[in-house]
Amino acid sequence: MKTISKTSIDISSKLIILFLLHFIFISCIHAQTLKEVFGKDFKIGVAVSEKQLLENDTIANLLVAKNFNSITNENALKWDNPHAVPGVYDFWKADSFVSFGTRNQMFLVGHTLVWHNQTPDWVFQDQSGNPVSRDTLLKRLKEHISTVVGRYKGKIHGWDVANEAIGDNGELRNSKWREIIGDDYIEKAYKYTSEADPDAELYYNDYNIEYTSQKQMEGTIKLIKSLQSKGIKITGLGIQAHWGLNSPTIEQIDSAIVIYSKLGVKVMFTELDITVLPSPYEAGITTNFEYKKEFDPFPNGLPDSMQTKLANRYAEIFKVFLKHKDVISRVTIWLLTDGQSWLNDWPIQGRTDYPNLFDRSYKPKPAYFSVLKCGKIENE
Ligand code: GLA
Repeated sequence: MKTISKTSIDISSKLIILFLLHFIFISCIHAQTLKEVFGKDFKIGVAVSEKQLLENDTIANLLVAKNFNSITNENALKWDNPHAVPGVYDFWKADSFVSFGTRNQMFLVGHTLVWHNQTPDWVFQDQSGNPVSRDTLLKRLKEHISTVVGRYKGKIHGWDVANEAIGDNGELRNSKWREIIGDDYIEKAYKYTSEADPDAELYYNDYNIEYTSQKQMEGTIKLIKSLQSKGIKITGLGIQAHWGLNSPTIEQIDSAIVIYSKLGVKVMFTELDITVLPSPYEAGITTNFEYKKEFDPFPNGLPDSMQTKLANRYAEIFKVFLKHKDVISRVTIWLLTDGQSWLNDWPIQGRTDYPNLFDRSYKPKPAYFSVLKCGKIENE
């Protein structure tokens, strides 16, 4: 007699559950996915984590393929991933991102080539640990860009060339790039990228640039105009959009779109997520971000009233995006599920946040349906 072991029962029951989940998700959202609803308005994207691709998270991958027509890598193309060590490139994570997007005929965004974060120290140092010269750093930048962009020429369609280069005061941020090379490190990065892939779209990406009252907006306008006046290619501006339930206001988002579109660049929202947790900054905390219960009010699930607030906030935001669909080329959500979000650990570690459209068990949240509804009403 054939005996069935406990392990094989476990495996087959898991497979059945997986199959059922797939079936439920496919039938649930079959007729109306995000990309079907927003397809004619703007590209609708999501950031994809390396873990999701490398561990072959089937449900997440399926939901991404069904709902989105553009993806951005979460980490795979930041300098410290393909190029952690001098002279050695390791593209296994980036390759899996590119092949997933290519297989699903998506618009691929490479993020990012020159940034003050996630760039290893060796980039700026000689063998004795002293700062390198301007020429050496420019050479390293050019070599990095031509290798990475060159590898994915024609496959990655747009690059966040520079990320977060403007500081709170509206001036260029004092990064090692700027200290060693000077202010022109930015234009060099754009030049090297367009040489490596002349057909790629080139973006500038930053946060807090949507507030007319703050200096970053002035700095961003100045930077874009200066690139344009030198004949350097700049296709679009990415507003990161890591937002809260109340800030920025819809009026601020609306004015930012109008102001930036006048520069003649595509306007994009590139890292949209909406935290529902109390902000330590608003409570006056700026340095010591230790865990406190009062900053983590929903460890066991989001109450219905908050789900509704989040859904309404997403809907009003998408309404203003749709109002300006003639100048907005892409809206990208920063990661698929609440469980994947960086906001669970930033700026305070170990909290439970709910900023995304899918919950921790991959279920579409009320926010997902409110965004869909918004697009359907618009396109009726
Ligand atoms: C910034 C970067 C992103 C990501 C987020 C946090 O917005 O541009 O790549 O690191 O911070 O996850």
